[in-house]
Parts: sequence; C-alpha cells; structure tokens
Amino acid sequence: MSAIAKSSADQPAARDGGSPSPAPGPPPERSAVIRLVDIYKSFGPVKVFTGLNLAVRQRESVVILGPSGTGKSVLLKHIIGLLRPDSGAVYYFQERVDDCDERELEEIRRHIGFLFQGGALFDSLSVYENIAFPLREHTRLKERDIRDRVAGKLAMVGLDGTQSLMPAELSGGMRKRVALARAIALDPDVMLYDEPTTGLDPIRADVINELILKLNDELHVTSVVVTHDINSAYKVADRLVMLWEGKVIMEGKADDFRRTTNDEVRRFIQGRASAAELEGLRRPEPPPIPESMETP
Ligand SMILES: Nc1ncnc2c1ncn2[C@@H]1O[C@H](COP(=O)(O)OP(=O)(O)OP(=O)(O)O)[C@@H](O)[C@H]1O
Ligand SMILES: [Mg+2]
Repeated sequence: MSAIAKSSADQPAARDGGSPSPAPGPPPERSAVIRLVDIYKSFGPVKVFTGLNLAVRQRESVVILGPSGTGKSVLLKHIIGLLRPDSGAVYYFQERVDDCDERELEEIRRHIGFLFQGGALFDSLSVYENIAFPLREHTRLKERDIRDRVAGKLAMVGLDGTQSLMPAELSGGMRKRVALARAIALDPDVMLYDEPTTGLDPIRADVINELILKLNDELHVTSVVVTHDINSAYKVADRLVMLWEGKVIMEGKADDFRRTTNDEVRRFIQGRASAAELEGLRRPEPPPIPESMETP
C-alpha cells in the first residue's frame, strides 16, 4: 500500500443525503477523510446496510444517530476494517480499506483512535500500562518518552497522577477518560467514538462531550461519534446523520433535526416508541367472563 495520502480530490465521494447510488466527484468544500460508498452488509438473514453512503470531511465532527441494532457499531468497524462490506467501498483518504490486508490495515489504524463501546481497558494492566500499550506496539519510543507521553495524554483528560491505579479502582467516567487517553496515545488524525457517554451521569457525560470538543480543537482531529444521547449529539456535532433501515435517512445540522417533520427522526429524538414497537408490551384483553359466573 502506498503511504496514506491526505487528499481525495480525485476520488468519487458519497452523496450527502444517503442516496442509494454513489455520486461521482469530490465533496464541495473540504476533502473527505472517510467515505462509505453504497455499502451492503448482512449477517445471515439480518440485512444491516442496504446501500449506505456517508462522507466525513477533514476536521468535521459527525454524529451518527440511530436506534439500537441499526448498525452504528458495525459502521465504525467498517471504517477500521474490522468488518468488510458484502459490496460497496470504504475509503480512508484514497485507500480502499475494504481491500486492505492485515498489514495495510495496521498502517491505517495507526491514524485512527477508537473508543470502543464499553471502554474496553485491559483490566490486568495499570492505567499507565494501558496507555503505554499502543506506544509499545507501534513505536520505538524510549521508556522516558513513553512516560512523558502517557502523562501528557492523561493530563488532556484531566487524570494525570492516576498512572498507578488499576481499572477496577476507577469510576465509570474515569475509565472512559483513560480509554480516551489510550485512544489518542498515537496522536490520531481521526477519532471514532462508540457511545462515549452511555452509562455516565449527565455531568460525567458532559465532561466527555467537552473532551471530544477539546480534542477536536487542540488535536485537529476528524471525529465520528456514535450515540443515542441526543443532547450529547447536539453539543458535539457539526453534522448529524441518522441511520434507519440500512441507510442514512437524514443528515444535517442540529437545527435541521430539531425542526424535522420526518416521523422516524422525530420519534427517535423525542424518545417515543411507535405503535408497532409497543405492540408486544400490550397486555392481552382478558377473556370475557361467562354470563353464568357474573355476580348478580
Ligand atoms: N459480528 C457480528 N455477527 C453477527 N451479527 C452481528 C455482528 N455484529 C453486529 N451484528 C448484528 O448487526 C446488527 C447491527 O449491530 P450494531 O452492533 O451495529 O448495532 P448498533 O446500532 O451499534 O446498536 P446499539 O445501539 O445497541 O449499540 C445487529 O442486528 C447485530 O446483531
Ligand atoms: Mg453499538
């Protein structure tokens, strides 16, 4: 694979709006860092994507919304080649991620930080060793430099001084922040966040939102944030994208979403279940009492 070039002007781009067919030509202003073009993906009978298109531009912060099971985590895994589409193409700049072998994927993944759903720290390693792990794997830094880098990343998330703690000694919010420090250890160009605020109280969730904004500002990263948390989405997004039944059904600014008349999007934002979704919860009508048993 050639070195990862940082321009995509000569590449086809996915059309904003989730149209089923990919549109040729670059996105209008900034070049796309990530593009998913006409992606189809099924697991057995479960059709997850049926013609999904998405382009993420450089330094943009895109939030992916959608109900549970719509494929938000599967989408992120396509970006780093942990999953491959049945058809369609995934690009990181000009590189076809879905065509890469493992060695090539390793090279791409060095540029992409991934905050996994649930945090996923190594429980048997200290905070220090958790953050040092990618540095030991991917760089030849001396221990002194690793120490400085770990301290710097922990300072970014407000946790310098916790190096010797074990994950079990951390609160949920602290675990997320340590996982975030590990995800940025290699100074990524792109950050992928899978449900970064789930399971946190509103204040801890807001700390994570502020951190995402801070990383965007200070590290100039491009961000893709998957979330159910609409407040968090409005706070961190330059652009929101909603997945529904295998495709992007809406994308736009927070105000477009607040004002939308699309029923599925409105129900999602307002947290209202549809009649079909509530159907299984209805108590069956009690059988009529036979006349002979009725009290006079
Ligand atoms: N490795 C896999 N093998 C089989 N099916 C999978 C696999 N990964 C995901 N799926 C299925 O793909 C669908 C989408 O899953 P995904 O985890 O992306 O949902 P999600 O939108 O992230 O949901 P949540 O909001 O609950 O995290 C689900 O039906 C899931 O069961
Ligand atoms: Mg998920």
